[in-house]
Amino acid sequence: MNIKTVGVVGAGAMGSGIAQVLAQSGLSVQLVDVGQPMLDRARQGIEASLGRFVDKGRLSAADRDAALARITTTSALDRLAESDYIIEAIVEDAEAKRVLFSGLDAIAKPAVILASNTSSISITVIGAATGRPDRVLGMHFMNPVPIMPLVEMIRGQATSSETMRIGSELARALGKTPVEAADYPGFIANRILMPMINEAIFAVMEGVGTPESIDTVMKLGMNHPMGPLTLADFIGLDVCLAVLDVLHEGLGDPKYRPCPLLRRMVAAGQFGRKSGQGFYTY
Ligand SMILES: NC(=O)c1ccc[n+]([C@@H]2O[C@H](COP(=O)([O-])OP(=O)(O)OC[C@H]3O[C@@H](n4cnc5c(N)ncnc54)[C@H](O)[C@@H]3O)[C@@H](O)[C@H]2O)c1
Repeated sequence: MNIKTVGVVGAGAMGSGIAQVLAQSGLSVQLVDVGQPMLDRARQGIEASLGRFVDKGRLSAADRDAALARITTTSALDRLAESDYIIEAIVEDAEAKRVLFSGLDAIAKPAVILASNTSSISITVIGAATGRPDRVLGMHFMNPVPIMPLVEMIRGQATSSETMRIGSELARALGKTPVEAADYPGFIANRILMPMINEAIFAVMEGVGTPESIDTVMKLGMNHPMGPLTLADFIGLDVCLAVLDVLHEGLGDPKYRPCPLLRRMVAAGQFGRKSGQGFYTY
């Protein structure tokens, strides 16, 4: 695998985490977002995360500094002309991703693989926006990326086996475990996780329990490390709604219908942890 420089598009919770693990693994990273405030926030978040590893004795100060030095930030997408591999982590919106992939296809070197970190959107549809659908795949990292060991690898209808092999090799080089999933809405992870989160929100709406009691039941009764509503706030309620919409539309089963309370909270700008208000206040 001759990958030295990786472009990451979208410097939110996921893109900054992906940039961090790439840099920690010795790769150069070009992190792109639409504006300087997002890039500054991402760098601060990466510094804080690496600092926690140093505090716990799991990373030396020299390795932290070297990782930070490997990350450059820019709002100029065409800087990715130099990348050997590109991972997209922008907003969970099919049209936005298709527009971006079409642009990346024009900028990136012909052999470069374009990966999407989408939680639910069809890799086949994203790949079809490019002239290289065989070199488009899903690499669904989990949040927080520096901690979680899984990468769900999604094979689109046109994705080649060689692309899957190279993507999986990169995931392993980052210390992650790749697991392949077929290109159906929500893949494996969110097809199973999101109905549980949605049901927990229905339970709040119907007064079955408070967020605290629902989370406590799932933690102490089911041995989950985190209750579903705490997890929803952590993922982002806007992301949860976008994924449920894709599941509902793509699979056509009413059991995926997003809870009206979730829709109302997102409309009110209550996105969870990142906005300061969700099922809990931050
Ligand atoms: N939040 C999670 O737990 C989680 C987990 C796995 C996968 N994902 C997926 O990862 C992706 C990103 O999610 P997130 O939680 O990091 O979102 P986020 O809202 O924290 O960050 C998205 C970033 O993308 C930027 N952006 C939007 N359009 C852009 C464009 N055209 N070019 C460059 N930057 C652009 C935004 O400015 C923002 O900084 C989504 O597809 C989401 O479904 C999220």
